[in-house]
Amino acid sequence: MNAEEGSTAATVVLPVSVRDLLPRDLPACAWSGSATHLRHVERELARAATGEVDYLAVCGPANLPVAVGGIDYTVSHSAGTLWQLAVHPALQSCGLGTLLIRAAERRIRDRGLRRAELAVEESNPRARALYERLGYTAYGREPDAWDEEGPDGAIRRHETMCVRMRKAL
Ligand SMILES: CC(C)(COP(=O)(O)OP(=O)(O)OC[C@H]1O[C@@H](n2cnc3c(N)ncnc32)[C@H](O)[C@@H]1OP(=O)(O)O)[C@@H](O)C(=O)NCCC(=O)NCCS
Repeated sequence: MNAEEGSTAATVVLPVSVRDLLPRDLPACAWSGSATHLRHVERELARAATGEVDYLAVCGPANLPVAVGGIDYTVSHSAGTLWQLAVHPALQSCGLGTLLIRAAERRIRDRGLRRAELAVEESNPRARALYERLGYTAYGREPDAWDEEGPDGAIRRHETMCVRMRKAL
């Protein structure tokens, strides 16, 4: 039997809005990563309360996050640094990431800053292509490392090489 047999194609237009991610949203963000990752995001939300970071959520009609991402204002004093950008796997390639990045750039400008920066893994050329389409240019590379929780619950160190990109706002 053909995999497409019996399937129906349709287009649905969904209203979305962008707001701050809140601690009460975290149970609805399991799609974005492991329990370890969500605990890390929870700590970042505490920093958001002090103004060091913004953490944004794109929400659908049920007001549940379908895309999230942070802006750190402490990495560079003259720029906002985008990080932890993630779109629900079922809704990638629909423009939500672009919407999230544009909203983040508005937040950075609202702080009186005129530059956005980010780092993308060299092993993630599709994400890099998106950032280039949105006007980011590469200006350097640096190693990075973080702890990742595997499906078995074990924590492993992930070591990687990133390209640093920036855009004048
Ligand atoms: C990268 C990401 C945030 C982009 O959000 P998005 O909503 O899919 O992006 P848009 O729909 O606005 O743009 C689509 C483009 O994003 C890029 N992209 C990167 N990773 C992608 C993925 N896993 N799925 C779909 N698009 C991806 C591609 O350039 C894609 O264009 P293409 O479909 O022509 O190849 C999202 O795909 C994602 O969460 N990926 C997994 C996590 C990740 O890689 N985060 C970035 C870390 S720096």
